[in-house]
Amino acid sequence: MPTTSIMPIIKVPDPILRQRALPVSEITDGTRQLIEDMVATMYDAPGIGLAAPQVNIGQRIIVMDCGKKEEPNLIQMINPEITGISEAHTVLEEGCLSIPDQTADVERPAEVEVKYLNQDGMSQSLVATGLLAACVQHEIDHLNGVLFIDHISRLKRDMILRRVMKELRKSTVDK
Ligand code: NI
Repeated sequence: MPTTSIMPIIKVPDPILRQRALPVSEITDGTRQLIEDMVATMYDAPGIGLAAPQVNIGQRIIVMDCGKKEEPNLIQMINPEITGISEAHTVLEEGCLSIPDQTADVERPAEVEVKYLNQDGMSQSLVATGLLAACVQHEIDHLNGVLFIDHISRLKRDMILRRVMKELRKSTVDK
């Protein structure tokens, strides 16, 4: 039986979060295992989305589940690309496993079309609205070294980063 492992989640200010991830050129059993591990890590956190750079892997892979507890909706994407966005924008509160315990309102296109490969290398497309639209844009941002705090004012961003650094220092002293 295949086993999965929970991977450590990289937090700000680690520079890996600011690097551009590389496309997956060949989907191997290793790729599929990595995706399984990312899914397990996301559910364990718990979170609704996770991008490979957040587990220290510079590859263009994201996993998401914006479904409800009774109705999970696991989506796994390799080399995702936004191919269309709506003119209408919407504001949703976002958080990030790499920026623990912080949230902010982020404005993004309300609807996006995404093309990607599944674990078998088949080309897929998805039109996302609502929470899933925000989630898929947030996760694709991670592949480009972009964080949700880059979409808010400098004042709010600095405030969030200051809070995270303070917590980080506290937890280092506690250990
Ligand atoms: Ni995130």
